[in-house]
Order: sequence, then C-alpha cells, then structure tokens
Amino acid sequence: MPALPPAVTIYEVGPRDGLQNESAIVPLDVKVEFIERLIAAGLPVVEATSFVHPRWVPQLADAADLVARLPQGGAVPLPVLVPNQRGLDRALEAGVTHIAVFASATETFATKNLNSTLDGQFEMFEPVVERARAAGLDVRAYVSMCFGDPWEGAVPIEQVVATGRRLLDLGASQLSLGDTIGVGTTGHVRSLVDQFIAAGTPVNQLAMHFHDTYGQALANTHAALQAGITTFDASAGGLGGCPYAESATGNLATEDLVWMLDGLGIVHGVDLLSLVETSRWMAVHLGKEPASAVVRALA
Ligand code: HMG
Ligand code: MG
Repeated sequence: MPALPPAVTIYEVGPRDGLQNESAIVPLDVKVEFIERLIAAGLPVVEATSFVHPRWVPQLADAADLVARLPQGGAVPLPVLVPNQRGLDRALEAGVTHIAVFASATETFATKNLNSTLDGQFEMFEPVVERARAAGLDVRAYVSMCFGDPWEGAVPIEQVVATGRRLLDLGASQLSLGDTIGVGTTGHVRSLVDQFIAAGTPVNQLAMHFHDTYGQALANTHAALQAGITTFDASAGGLGGCPYAESATGNLATEDLVWMLDGLGIVHGVDLLSLVETSRWMAVHLGKEPASAVVRALA
C-alpha cells in the first residue's frame, strides 16, 4: 500500500451542513451546546453556520445570534459560509475570523443554489474574497458537484479543476472538493486529485467533502489519503445534506472517519466516545437515529 499521511485535520461541518437540512428549527441554545461539545471532543475546526439569505435556509437564520454566543479568535476556528457581499457584511459585523465561499462546478447547481450562473458566481465571490482578505479573514472555498450533478449527470473533471483553480486564484487558502450527492467512487477521487495536482495545486491546499448517499464516503476517503489529502470534512453522527441538491443525504460521519483513521494509526486529535455521546445527544433533539454506523454500533 502507498504510504498514508501520519496525521490529518478533520473539518467538522455538522452545525452547518448537518443542520441546514433539518426542517424543524433547532433552538439556539442547542446549537451553541452542540458546537461547544464538538470543540470539547477535540475537533480542530468547526464550521458554525451560514450568512446566507434566511429565506433560502431558514434553519440558519439565527447566524448572527449564534456567532455572538461563540468564542471567536480562539484555538478552534469557527468558519461560516458567506455567498455574497451582503453575507460578508453580516459576518464582519458579527466578528468572525474565518469564512467560506461556495461555488458550483455546474451551471444548473449555480442557478439552483446561488441564483447565479457558472460565470456569475465568480463575480459574486471576487469582492467577497478581496474584502475578507483585506480585513484579515481566512477564506476557504468549496466546489460542489465535483463528482456528478443530479440534473446534468457526469461532470467533466476539467470543469471541476477549472472552477477550483479560479477560486484559488481569487485568493482562497483552501479548496474543499464536494461530492454533494455522494455519487463518487475511488478511481474518480484519485483522478480528480491527480488532475488538481497536475494543474499546479499543492495537495495540502485541497480538502475532500464527501456525502455518503451511496455508501462510498469512507472508501473515497481512503483513496484520497492515498493521494496525499490531509483535510477531510465530516459531520457528527452523519447529519447533513443540501436543501438545493436533489438526492443529497448526510455527510461522511465524523465517527466513521475517526474509526477508520484509528485503525490506520493516523493521528486526528478527536475523542471518539465524547463525540459519539454528542451525536446521540443531538439525535435526541432532532428526534431521529444517527446515520453513522459507528455511533449506532457504540450505542
Ligand atoms: P438572491 O435572491 O439572488 O439575492 O439570492 P439578491 O442578491 O437578489 O438579494 C435579494 C434580497 O436578499 C435583498 O434584500 C438582499 O439584501 C438580500 P432586499 O433588497 O430585497 O430587501 N440578501 C441577503 N440577506 C441576508 N444575507 C445574505 C443576503 N444576500 C442577499 N447573504 C443568495 C442569492 C446567494 C443570497 C441565495 O441564493 C442564497 O442565500 N443561497 C444559499 C443557498 C445555501 O445556503 N445552500 C446550502 C449551502 S451550499 C452546500 O451545502 C454545499 C457544500 O456543503 C459543499 C457540498 O456538499 O458540495 C458547501
Ligand atoms: Mg455538503
């Protein structure tokens, strides 16, 4: 087997990607405690919420109130999604230090998710990234639909690489490659990462963001580890999905990822049992069983 990285960073997206798909509004106090518990479990970065239009994602309409309750500028960054200048104004006012813009690799999803176009989304992001960086913020960038799109089908790798490169050229510090609907498989992951590297992207600027719709997220994570990736997005308990992407289900569960990394001897810094307890606690609030196989097994 090719050598695997000795350590990785788990980028927790449960409070944002996980909760954005829940229709029943989660009380602010529960969101605050969820994030505090994730930090206490050792997650090194926790994406907290989104400064998107509240009508588009009602669950996260309380973004400013949530951020006000969280410790900003501490050892654990708490990034927020920001799509446009209005979102950035709100995020700056709230005092965040890390933001993430989110692009689509396809025309249809750019329309559905951002009310924009493939080209138009960059016009939206350019002033956001420029202003955020001038204010000293860190800017991550996502690319969605990297492995397939529910409306357009297969997405050419060159189209994904071109989208990602444009975001890095704008000044994003890290690029997270999203399998929004979870259709990717291992060979595809390898080809995508290799083509980003061939296009001059340092592998440590790339992160993988797998949804587990087709049960491929862990296999895909292993393929990405073999390709040298060291940052993985995951969601406590396997919560998640995108309200604007048909057939998107939960993210790779953080517990499932931790279990595999432990087996491989890869350092990640997360306390599995306290994370499992957190996901079970959250499941009670949401009134449904966690999707994570590891949470269910350890329960
Ligand atoms: P729009 O309707 O085109 O917005 O939506 P607009 O620019 O035309 O403005 C219309 C009104 O909205 C204006 O108010 C703006 O001020 C206001 P009015 O003048 O009419 O009173 N407005 C805002 N208000 C609050 N916050 C804002 C904001 N922006 C405008 N940020 C927009 C365009 C981008 C806002 C909308 O499409 C949107 O909010 N989309 C977000 C969708 C979303 O959050 N999707 C889920 C996250 S992406 C994801 O999950 C994928 C990921 O996990 C990776 C993967 O899995 O692949 C990241
Ligand atoms: Mg996602």
